Amino acid sequence: MNPVYRRAAPGDAIRLFEIRRTSILELASKGIPADEAAAWAMKLTPAGMEQKLRELEIWVAELDGVTAGWGAIRGSYLEGLYMAPEFAGRGIGGSLLATLESLMRSRGVREIRAEASSNALDFYLQRGYRATAPQTPDGAWPIAKQLQ
Ligand SMILES: CC(C)(COP(=O)(O)OP(=O)(O)OC[C@H]1O[C@@H](n2cnc3c(N)ncnc32)[C@H](O)[C@@H]1OP(=O)(O)O)[C@@H](O)C(=O)NCCC(=O)NCCS
Repeated sequence: MNPVYRRAAPGDAIRLFEIRRTSILELASKGIPADEAAAWAMKLTPAGMEQKLRELEIWVAELDGVTAGWGAIRGSYLEGLYMAPEFAGRGIGGSLLATLESLMRSRGVREIRAEASSNALDFYLQRGYRATAPQTPDGAWPIAKQLQ
């Protein structure tokens, strides 16, 4: 079944918070030390998720009415991409990313930028991104991809 993409609504906050938390603890922790993953997961509170919903443009991928993952953008910046572990590895994260890129392209954005956590760097490099600067002190990789 193909995912359906829709804008997130305020009522999605709890599910999106849980997706972020479990994706970091169960997926990201395969590529970074468990204590780093735990610290990253703890950085956001449910109230912080509600704030993200107000401040960012968040899109969710749904399968059969179930929210499988979400991605957030602001201008030309990808602010986050998270897949519920039970939906990971099925191409949904890649297609949600491609959907966000198409949206930006249609708005005239020429280059999408992001900071990749080291566990997700290969995921982005395989999708046309390149590292634009050395790893930051907190371990993220500044990356970018030309959109046109
Ligand atoms: C990065 C992330 C969003 C990718 O989502 P996804 O839906 O699993 O992505 P896809 O299925 O499109 O691609 C995952 C890749 O892992 C492979 N894969 C295979 N089995 C897998 C599994 N059980 N779990 C995860 N990935 C698997 C896929 O084949 C694919 O390989 P490719 O990159 O060589 O094409 C997801 O892993 C995630 O939420 N990670 C934790 C949070 C995170 O790091 N976010 C990025 C922050 S910068």
